[in-house]
Amino acid sequence: MSTAANTLDLSNYWMPFTANRQFKSQPRILVAAEGVHYTRDDGARLLDSSAGLWCVNAGHGRAEIAEAVHRQLLTLDYSPAFQMGQPGAFDFAARVARLAPEGLDRVFFTNSGSESVDTALKIALAYHKARGEGGRFRIIGREKGYNGVGFGGISVGGLVANRRQFAGQLLPSVDHLPHTFDLAKNAFSRGQPEHGAEKADVLEGLIALHGADSIAAVIVEPVAGSAGVLPPPKGYLEKLREITAKNGILLIFDEVITGFGRLGAPFAAHRFGVTPDIITCAKGITNGALPMGAVIVDRKVHDALMAGPDNVIELFHGYTYSGHPTACAAGMATLDIYEREGLLTRVKEIEKHFEDALHSLKGKPHIIDIRNIGLMGAIELKPREDGPGKRGYDLLVDCFNSGLLIRVSGDIVAISPPLIIEPAQIDEIVEKLGAALDRLK
Ligand SMILES: Cc1ncc(COP(=O)(O)O)c(C=O)c1O
Repeated sequence: MSTAANTLDLSNYWMPFTANRQFKSQPRILVAAEGVHYTRDDGARLLDSSAGLWCVNAGHGRAEIAEAVHRQLLTLDYSPAFQMGQPGAFDFAARVARLAPEGLDRVFFTNSGSESVDTALKIALAYHKARGEGGRFRIIGREKGYNGVGFGGISVGGLVANRRQFAGQLLPSVDHLPHTFDLAKNAFSRGQPEHGAEKADVLEGLIALHGADSIAAVIVEPVAGSAGVLPPPKGYLEKLREITAKNGILLIFDEVITGFGRLGAPFAAHRFGVTPDIITCAKGITNGALPMGAVIVDRKVHDALMAGPDNVIELFHGYTYSGHPTACAAGMATLDIYEREGLLTRVKEIEKHFEDALHSLKGKPHIIDIRNIGLMGAIELKPREDGPGKRGYDLLVDCFNSGLLIRVSGDIVAISPPLIIEPAQIDEIVEKLGAALDRLK
């Protein structure tokens, strides 16, 4: 049990995506982190099965990143992002572009995944307008999609809890593909499920309904993350690519979770062999050390906007902290670590172990599905009679008290440890989870 309630005033901080009153009556406070462990305020250690929030890919407390940020702060703490440049932003953009799939080599910096998504949607609209196709204003998202929390992101996203409080003010010209989750056909799938590629064909129907000439872009997470790790059915992303290309529609992969090695390749686009026109990313880009995101854009899309008089701003968009010097320094140091330690491909070596370990939980109480791809896994529990999410929350608390940090969405546990995790530590996650499930009502 936390000791923080006695020493901290918890009242002022309005916590994000948290049941504030429940939390503050029973707080869980983390005070330090190193490697794959957090330290609670009572000194106990927690094994981090979620890389923070899917972002600390190289593990915690990397001195190299801290030193790079420290040096940068003392050299150039901030420089205006508009009409002014600093070397770090150009260097880091070149570095990110080198990692991205071929053709995608223009990089716009943001400060979060949500900003990356809204930026990508705006670029898609501006691109069509620049080419004289301003009638393409519609954007297609997907049910169960999580594309951040900006108005653009929640409009194209498909998680009802994130939308209903704001209904009435979502973007008007949006439609959705169906999600690909199919428990009846795909339960306990390992890797990409066999069934569901035909769900991409619904895009043909949306095109027939709205007209291709009204659709700017389709945005999907290559693997839906926050909805509970839904890998794409075999052939699904290929179909989306084919249909969008045929109809002049941009394909945006929201790789905020899948970018930077989580699937055993720099991006999901590499892993699946499907190249979108725009990639949004954020988590992992600075190893969680500082807020940052990026939108990586196909050169053709970028170049279409580089038109008109050269004294006119081509994209009326940007953030005070776009390409912030410290974030770029953290990003450079992060990529040094990823490259030196082979972390962008390491998952290929450990994903079979991860898969077998997760699926060994099959048969434990309450589990209705286990699924995985790369170093992303989900364990879905049957909701309890007294309400959805309650069983998941009880599991979170039990794990926290017994030395394991887990990420829970409703009754789904998402497992996504730092990419440096050792097989024995994966076993420890599964063992602790299994014991907690045995205790769970
Ligand atoms: C796929 C995806 N897109 C966007 C976001 C939003 O990122 P942020 O919380 O950094 O705004 C997330 C966050 O989990 C995400 O998983």
